[in-house]
Amino acid sequence: MNRRDFIKMGALGGVIVLTRPSLIDQKLFAHDGRLYESFEKVQLVDEEGTPIKASALEVDVDYIFQYPHAGTPCILLNLSEKSEVNVELKDALGDIYLWSEGVGKSGSIVAYSAICSHALTHPNKSESFFAYVPKGKASAAIEKGGAIVCSSHLSSFDPRNGGKVLGGPADQPLASIVLEHNAQDDTLWAVGVLGSAKFNDYFNAFKTEMDRDWGGKRQAKKLVKISAPTVKLTKFTKEVIQY
Ligand code: FES
Repeated sequence: MNRRDFIKMGALGGVIVLTRPSLIDQKLFAHDGRLYESFEKVQLVDEEGTPIKASALEVDVDYIFQYPHAGTPCILLNLSEKSEVNVELKDALGDIYLWSEGVGKSGSIVAYSAICSHALTHPNKSESFFAYVPKGKASAAIEKGGAIVCSSHLSSFDPRNGGKVLGGPADQPLASIVLEHNAQDDTLWAVGVLGSAKFNDYFNAFKTEMDRDWGGKRQAKKLVKISAPTVKLTKFTKEVIQY
């Protein structure tokens, strides 16, 4: 990787600035604009609209919110340990980008697009083949757990390392949702998407589901504004299927 070629993507507002190599250890980096897109800064709230407190998130429990579109599901996790920092990732085209770290007091809170990077399996309101397997719990995809598993074809992704592929047919990491944590009031905000998100493929592939769950593709594609209701996966979907 030639670090001189990097362009710094500002986490706040998505400002693109050519950066010197000495700045490489700051926030987010992608070598062109394709792998980072900022969206409206949106607060994570509960079903009643009350801001979610980072410290109140249950550990190793799947939460779901929609971002950046009204019908693009994301998984939110408060892991049992701090994430790694400045993880270098590579997408399916071979482009390298850097995932910074988890947020919250312990650096353990992470969020990813819940649309599998293999063949777009995702949680919907009927079922979910997509869920976190906590450390120490075995699944067919990963012996010791500690991974987000897509049970469609058993891809597994490491939430402590930017959604990196651990196994299975997926050829690139999950796209990550860039979060901000306000340490003063312990609130959480989504501000952008890092990595290859495949949203257009997803909207084109699941028209029937868009009609059923979101009132049509146009509604599903609307950008989320102001706040994103966040619920446990077990409440969002009728059935979690995990192998
Ligand atoms: S769609 Fe997820 S592993 Fe194939």
